[in-house]
Amino acid sequence: MKLPNGPQTPAIVQMLQWVATPMWFMEDCAKRYGDIFTLQLNMPLVLISNPQALQQILTGDGKEFAAPSNLNSVFEPLLGKNSVITVSGETHKRQRQLLTPPFHGERMHNYAQTISNITQEVIKSWQVSEVVCIRSVMQTITLRVIMQAVFGLYNGARAQELEKVISIMMDAGGSSPLRALMLYYPALQRDLGKLTPWGIFLRRREMVDKLIYAEIAERRENPDPSCTDILSLLMAARDENGEPMTDVELRDELITLLSAGHETTATALTWAFYWIHKTPSVRYKLLTELDGLDNMDFNAVNKLPYLSAVCNETLRIYPVGMLTFPREVREPVNLCGYDLEPGTYIMGSIYLTHRREDIYPEANQFSPERFLEKQFSPYEFLPFGGGVRRCIGNAFAMLEMKVVLATVMKLVELELVTTEDVRPRRRGLVTGPNRAINMSVKEMREARVLSTSV
Ligand code: HEM
Repeated sequence: MKLPNGPQTPAIVQMLQWVATPMWFMEDCAKRYGDIFTLQLNMPLVLISNPQALQQILTGDGKEFAAPSNLNSVFEPLLGKNSVITVSGETHKRQRQLLTPPFHGERMHNYAQTISNITQEVIKSWQVSEVVCIRSVMQTITLRVIMQAVFGLYNGARAQELEKVISIMMDAGGSSPLRALMLYYPALQRDLGKLTPWGIFLRRREMVDKLIYAEIAERRENPDPSCTDILSLLMAARDENGEPMTDVELRDELITLLSAGHETTATALTWAFYWIHKTPSVRYKLLTELDGLDNMDFNAVNKLPYLSAVCNETLRIYPVGMLTFPREVREPVNLCGYDLEPGTYIMGSIYLTHRREDIYPEANQFSPERFLEKQFSPYEFLPFGGGVRRCIGNAFAMLEMKVVLATVMKLVELELVTTEDVRPRRRGLVTGPNRAINMSVKEMREARVLSTSV
């Protein structure tokens, strides 16, 4: 089978580059081979950054292309076999139907208030001159927000314990390229003791699982029909045979939402704070726009044009998800001039698409204005992927970014302490800043509590 061109180095060398410097590796390949190329990782993988081809793939789900779960097995050690990410076909469709509504529509109004409350609670202890690591703060906020959405709780002993263990587990995974390598090679996933990387991960996962199962057991013992959180919704769901989800199925879905739903948004917010404070004209325009808001009117915040442009540009320049999930060719298809046979695996490179100079002139510049001047197609700007595996939390994450940014910017004046340029790097299976971004608190602007009106 003839595949598009790509590097000829041994697969193990390509895998090491992929794990250590994926963005540089993709850019280098795009320079040499163009919009479509093949990497030899633990199998041949075709990467695409051409909007027309992306449209073909993402609208062809279920026809010429499938969105299989076998390559998503890298997520299995954490998410299990029953997660929406690690299942495919009809099961995947059913799970999405169950999980999508809670992150859309009416419920968003309540979430906006929760997000603003949690943000104010977290930053209220800040003192003038204090230096804060913005990622840690954002991670605390986004984890509490998703815990509230999923379990209806972010306070109380179990919630606090869960918050602590999940943070430690995600941080350890993010900081280690070795852990990423282990995810790609199951043979390396050996428990060689509690001090070895995989041993540490397994023990932390066990702690998280224990807490999640305890919460499920308590809910089974004391069902409360008035609860509207996602766990209650999943516990009430019945399959086509009238059977409820098992504890393991519930656990896999909950850990998926908890992990996919907070790390990504925390990283996006961290970048947003970095760019806003790195670019004085952007900060000025944003503050001017926010000055026009008397309170945190959810609808108004969500529609602010400059705030939306800042969030979009943040997700464009260094997308948190570098790639779409893999697609498999089902019927012979021509992509970018190449005839691809059934069985070929393809991934959309979100990172390369967002850095195309023909779509985004001066792509290295942070310029929210480009989103005010032009409307990009969903295949030119796709931070949340597309097609049948499009991110379930898209609207939720955008709302969260806007409400957190608006709340913090209205209440506090911050200044960037980290003066060096910060670049993206691999963080587990996604990306993040390559160093800590520290900010100092210059002024606490208002003591009054912001309220959300809808
Ligand atoms: C800025 C924040 C976020 C970014 C950049 C992001 C990005 C992505 C991307 C690129 C995909 C793959 C889509 C594809 O293959 O086409 C994805 C899938 C997914 N995301 Fe997000 N995401 C974010 C926030 C969230 C949140 C808040 C949640 C949960 C509430 C969430 C849950 C999921 C799930 C469950 C999937 C898998 C969907 C499936 O397999 O059907 N994400 N996300």
